[in-house]
Amino acid sequence: MKTATDFVAISQIEKLDPAEASMIMQELAALIQNYDAAYHNSTEQQDAVLPDSEYDKLIHLNLALERHFPSLIQKNSPSVRVGHQVSEQFGKIEHTLQMLSLGNAFTDEDVFDFVERVKRFLALGNSSTIQLTAEPKIDGLSLSLRYEKGQLVTGATRGDGTIGEDITQNVMTIADIPHRLSGAVPDIVEVRGEVYMQRSDFTRLNAQQQEQGGKIFANPRNAAAGSLRQKDPAITKNRPLRFFAYAPGFLSAAITDTHSGFLDWAKQAGFDVNPLSITCADAPEMLAHYRHIASQRSQLDYEIDGVVYKVDRLDYQDRLGQVSRAPRWAIAHKFPAEQAVTTLEDIDIQVGRTGALTPVARLKPVQVGGVTVSNATLHNEDEIKRKDIMIGDQVILQRAGDVIPQIVQVLASERSGNEAHFIFPDQCPVCGSPALRPDGEAVRRCIGGFVCTAQSVERLKHFVSRNAFDIDGLGDKQIELFYTLGWIKYPSDIFALPLKKDEIAALSGMGEKSAENLVMAINARLTIALERLIFGLGIRQIGEATAKLIAQRYPSIEQLLQMAEFATDPDTAAYQELISIDQIGRSVADDLVQFLADEDNRIELEKLAQHLTLIPPETPQQNSPISGKTIVFTGTLAALSRNEAKAQAERLGARVSGSVSGKTDFLVAGADAGSKASKAEALGVSILSEDEYLKIIAD
Ligand code: IVH
Repeated sequence: MKTATDFVAISQIEKLDPAEASMIMQELAALIQNYDAAYHNSTEQQDAVLPDSEYDKLIHLNLALERHFPSLIQKNSPSVRVGHQVSEQFGKIEHTLQMLSLGNAFTDEDVFDFVERVKRFLALGNSSTIQLTAEPKIDGLSLSLRYEKGQLVTGATRGDGTIGEDITQNVMTIADIPHRLSGAVPDIVEVRGEVYMQRSDFTRLNAQQQEQGGKIFANPRNAAAGSLRQKDPAITKNRPLRFFAYAPGFLSAAITDTHSGFLDWAKQAGFDVNPLSITCADAPEMLAHYRHIASQRSQLDYEIDGVVYKVDRLDYQDRLGQVSRAPRWAIAHKFPAEQAVTTLEDIDIQVGRTGALTPVARLKPVQVGGVTVSNATLHNEDEIKRKDIMIGDQVILQRAGDVIPQIVQVLASERSGNEAHFIFPDQCPVCGSPALRPDGEAVRRCIGGFVCTAQSVERLKHFVSRNAFDIDGLGDKQIELFYTLGWIKYPSDIFALPLKKDEIAALSGMGEKSAENLVMAINARLTIALERLIFGLGIRQIGEATAKLIAQRYPSIEQLLQMAEFATDPDTAAYQELISIDQIGRSVADDLVQFLADEDNRIELEKLAQHLTLIPPETPQQNSPISGKTIVFTGTLAALSRNEAKAQAERLGARVSGSVSGKTDFLVAGADAGSKASKAEALGVSILSEDEYLKIIAD
């Protein structure tokens, strides 16, 4: 076991030449990284391979070296490395109600559109008013707190929205989170909100960390995240974390009728509620408050990145529901991005899992919006041309929230004449296969498929990623290593890894315990939701929501493969059936069919099907009065908007179609029903009034 004294004494650092320093810094960074991994993978503190005092000395020495040789700071140094993914570290908590994220608005028009959309969905007239709240969007981490009989019992991170990490012990140490709620409260109360760190506390914490040779945080949000996910609650207790309550989660009985009422209740129950929350009657009032909050932003002692608008009435929120992972009843109006100027030093090409060649700008590191940025995506070759980007240019860089930094514009007037044009390759820089750009497409792609290391590795990383197979202990590093060792090439190879348990255990940085954990994590995924597999395949344009729609229509691999066999061209019934799925258009359908028609992919899918037990998605209600029926809505409905009626019918297991055909079971005709009603009549399809329909579904 190497310790700090095996390297160099701090007092001797200034005598080192850069080559010697570089050797030491490389070894030191790798060593600390190994210790971190070993520490994070162990469940007990005492399992740590190195005493804390020795570990601290390594960190000190590394920082001292970095102060002397800043140009030699290693990419994997603990001072720059982003937090280790420590999902093994905490237990899991399934959220009673999903924790959602928010859609974004960027312009005033987006806000007007949002209000219009809400009114339309609720079938409120254009001239009607609806109350919405406006409150700051705190730049921290969301947290769900559960109180039973008024007593705090658990605290969980958002996780993937369905399952979060159990950080109860850490949450208990946050001073402004009440352990007991004041007043009469329902038996079960979930309160959601944001954990954050004040700017002033963040500056003090970093100064203290610097002094003690601890981790320096990039911004208050990272500091809050790092502090909240500590293994040792005693460390969290010493970190100045705070909490603003902003929404209810599951409640065993109603508390109020409105969001603003909930915030008032939360205040008197003992929570901190952001003082800049107000209720507005229309979009102009919301925008005025947005501008007010923006004007206060620099004076606030906490970071905010926008304003959240929420429909105030909770019954309206229920009716509005959600699309994918965001509620229809709320939106985040983001502040404009922050900008900085820097030099574009080079352009590299990255090859993604679908073979797309993406140019990436390597930049002279610069601070933008609180973090150091040294890379920015350039999207594709046209983007480089369109923005007239040359290597050596001065560029304006922009970063908004967690979004990947963007180059907004080149400062052409600053050119010295030494800048060089970038020539986009027509061969894959990784495998040498041709990189083709079909007519009309923006992206050039390597045609190497599984022959291309980059594509194979990226496909594997996607396959095990959080919203796909979510295999703990199989991060990017392990995928790359196992790939290089020739152990995995196709996703199905992952399920043969348990056979190599001993070889895995023998790898440096692994050991028996990590190998055992990995095998357990892989085996835990042998039974999995079909939609996760479909998403995990990494087919172009097929994200989680689309994967779910596909799985609902084709609930097994056999059905999927069979569809692809028959859907050879748009005239086939199989293809028509595919594009009849709501939200699946021809372009998505073509990508899916093309993927499934590929021989390699079919073989791979069959292998996966052999390893896995696939659970089809929960089918919408099977025994409602309209389950399995195909319905068409037409005309103006009085009680429900068209969208709401559609969402409700789908929940009840019906298929909602836009046009009447022989397959239509009935047409629901509102006021002023036009040609669809006549067509239904002609085809003998039964026509129901809105009232008749509502009576049927109420049964
Ligand atoms: S409401 C269903 N209100 O923003 C709505 N979220 O992008 C749930 N956030 O994960 C969120 N301040 O962590 C809401 N005043 C606020 C917020 C807020 C910050 C975060 C939250 C959420 C993310 C969504």
